[in-house]
Amino acid sequence: MTSFNQQDGALHCEGVSLEAIAQTHGTPTYVYSHTAIKDAFLSYQNAVGDHPHLICYAVKANSNLSILRTLATLGAGFDVVSVGELERVMVAGGDAGKVVFSGVGKTASEMRRALEAGIKCFNVESEAELRLLAAVAEQMACSAPISIRVNPDVDAGTHPYISTGLRENKFGVDVASARDLYRFADDAPFLEPVGIDCHIGSQILDVAPFITALHSLLGLIDDLAEDGISLDHLDVGGGLGVSYESAAPAVADYVSALTEHIADRQLELLFEPGRSIVAMAGALLTEVLYLKPGDVRQFAVVDAAMNDLLRPSLYGAWQEIQAVKPRAGNAETWDIVGPVCETGDFLGKDREMVLEQGDLLAVMGAGAYGFSMASNYNSRPRPTEVLIKDSTVHVIGRRESITDLWRSEEIPPEIA
Ligand code: LLP
Repeated sequence: MTSFNQQDGALHCEGVSLEAIAQTHGTPTYVYSHTAIKDAFLSYQNAVGDHPHLICYAVKANSNLSILRTLATLGAGFDVVSVGELERVMVAGGDAGKVVFSGVGKTASEMRRALEAGIKCFNVESEAELRLLAAVAEQMACSAPISIRVNPDVDAGTHPYISTGLRENKFGVDVASARDLYRFADDAPFLEPVGIDCHIGSQILDVAPFITALHSLLGLIDDLAEDGISLDHLDVGGGLGVSYESAAPAVADYVSALTEHIADRQLELLFEPGRSIVAMAGALLTEVLYLKPGDVRQFAVVDAAMNDLLRPSLYGAWQEIQAVKPRAGNAETWDIVGPVCETGDFLGKDREMVLEQGDLLAVMGAGAYGFSMASNYNSRPRPTEVLIKDSTVHVIGRRESITDLWRSEEIPPEIA
């Protein structure tokens, strides 16, 4: 099931021609499908069924306000990792009471703002953070709802940069230390243990590591019960992969595999999916500026670059690249590269395509960790973002202007 498909020899999103979008809005442009986002979110909701649950969309995957609004309207909670993400959620109409706050480096002022907003839970990642949170809550004379992020030391078999559940990673605390932190929190007047969480990595293509991690959390929950500490929720994190190149498990199978293990427990089940909600709902539309045929490699230079979509450069990630209007003829092998002055600036390598200057290409699966990781490197304005809903194109992020690039900079008079 995809919202992007070929119709009459040209790529469309929800029935709207990508060529028409490029004509009206220029390139590079991120194109998102409202239906695809909605369907992906509902596939979580429907799979959990009647068991009490909250799907907390991981804002970092794509934090555009209209996308947050779409999910808030569907009843989503949110997983945030900074006060910036929290403010975005609230501006978009999300309910702070459905927000969990993750991240290893929360500052005192972020804690204050989150307490003031009344978030659902702090996912605490260290003893030092727990102590600071207790002090901040005491100053504010309120109680901070907490969960300890357990690092279950599980190998999720994903890229080392996005593996988070191994002992060597900076995230969470080991099971034994977590039990001590819960005892500390239980005794602290301004902390209230309400949940337990983990997150073992991203783009995970096998359900087994999630189940291993879940067992480790359930074991700790039983130990805590012996200590007289009972929790309201269990947060299994995000991390389910999508089918960029190889098949990913279906959301329904992943959700039911997890739900099955806690069906008989009085625990609200939380998920923090990011990628699996938005990745396949987005494509990055770009134009071929030049072709540079050669003996060793052939380059198609396009107008999108690593600053617009970093995943291929940073992780060596593979994302499908489609011609918006595929041409007949003899395909050749092209490296699809951007204008940024780095050899690592590529969107795809060794792609068999029939290309001509001026052709439009779509980098698929670009809805997650695309725009949200974009930068202004090489003083390139970030792209337009459009959301297609009911066959109408809505601009949900305008292309930055050249003057936007230095809007926060100054030249003090003393600077000669
Ligand atoms: N919860 C926490 C605490 C996380 O750290 C993450 C992602 C998520 C939820 C969402 O995970 P997802 O369902 O999206 O896999 N930039 C990388 C991905 C980094 C993921 C970091 N944490 C990429 O483009 O592949």
